[in-house]
Amino acid sequence: MKWLVSPAVIEGSLAVPGDKSIAHRALMLAGLAHGGSVIHNLPAGEDVRATAGIMRALGVNVSDADSALVHSTGKLKAPQQALDAANSGTSMRLLSGVLAGQRFDSCLVGDESLSRRPMGRIIEPLSRMGADIRSRDGSAPLEIRGSRLHGIRYALPVASAQVKSAILLAGLFASGETTVEERVPSRDHTELMLRAMGVEVRRVKNKVSVTRGKPQPFQMRVPGDPSSASFFLAAAALTGGTAEVTGVSVNPTRTGFLRALERMGVSVEMGEERLELGEPVASVRVSGSVTGPIMIGADEVPQLVDEIPLLALLATQASGKSTISGAAELRVKETDRIAAVTAMLGAMGADIRELPDGFVVDGPTRLLGRTVSSGGDHRLAMLAAVAGTCAQGETVVEDAEAADVSFPSFHRAFADVGGRIEAA
Ligand code: S3P
Repeated sequence: MKWLVSPAVIEGSLAVPGDKSIAHRALMLAGLAHGGSVIHNLPAGEDVRATAGIMRALGVNVSDADSALVHSTGKLKAPQQALDAANSGTSMRLLSGVLAGQRFDSCLVGDESLSRRPMGRIIEPLSRMGADIRSRDGSAPLEIRGSRLHGIRYALPVASAQVKSAILLAGLFASGETTVEERVPSRDHTELMLRAMGVEVRRVKNKVSVTRGKPQPFQMRVPGDPSSASFFLAAAALTGGTAEVTGVSVNPTRTGFLRALERMGVSVEMGEERLELGEPVASVRVSGSVTGPIMIGADEVPQLVDEIPLLALLATQASGKSTISGAAELRVKETDRIAAVTAMLGAMGADIRELPDGFVVDGPTRLLGRTVSSGGDHRLAMLAAVAGTCAQGETVVEDAEAADVSFPSFHRAFADVGGRIEAA
């Protein structure tokens, strides 16, 4: 599928699909609980579908609905086939932690992109816990022999919520205490949700610990995905419009992008705050245009890691030199996002230079509509749509169906708030 995108002003209020990170965890934890759980606002994206499919293959009953009913005996069953995580790094890494401590063997596979992504970062700490995981040179397929695990103390060498969560989930099946130490705080949904589901989680400064435990069944409404929301908020800031996203997660480990927008001169307001199973939720409203440049360093990266491509785009319209560094992790996302963003925005006329761990962007520059491709990366498909909205002339986004991984109806939602976008 292609998208044809023309300049427009983004203006309006919307709700975005449920948060992908929270939804993966909700499905996994509901599968580990004994009894029935209800997950409202489960997003329909392919990544979350992959986790639901794997939980089913492990004997958990997951209804196929926006309000999913999950029934589990609390004991996973040996799968009859390889477990397919498709494009989803979160499914593969977190489920490795769960599967390592089971009494059966399993095999996790993924698509071409996921099969290139580094899995050594979870194999190493899980092996220290006693896991037996074979890989193809540190990548999927992962053959996991169920093993008896024991707790470890582990300082994360890469700031990664996926690695932290894999270890904590394995800790639910391990003897003794499992402690993960992180230098820079990454998203803490696993900790918050485990606690809300009755598992004891200890946090002392930057260390988080769990012991063997079983989550209780629960009911929750998955808050809107702040990473999906950020495309609309950025588009408003780039086109002089106003956008409001309702019911979105404002967990402080996810709102780095909003703080960066404010530093670039954009007005960000939050309203109607509430808690949903330990997770803060609010409506977020953005108005005013981006003015100044932005400096982002390693300490901020985990809290806006998925929004960095958008910050690079915003920087093209800010006066001055923006520098984003300490983000080498972007090279091992669904694509090498440093190379891909530089190529895409460069082709559209941006003054953007690649660093080994980020970008330097000189602005402002006028962007020009071009034919660009998502390269199979959902966030780059949506980035291209936003870039096309503030570019001169028409932008053609090839391989736009990649957006289905996190936001299947993105182009319709974008058109609803004034985007001039057509699927062809
Ligand atoms: C995620 C954590 C981040 C993020 C990914 C989802 C999660 O990855 O990029 O989209 O749900 O834990 P890392 O923690 O590996 O940086």
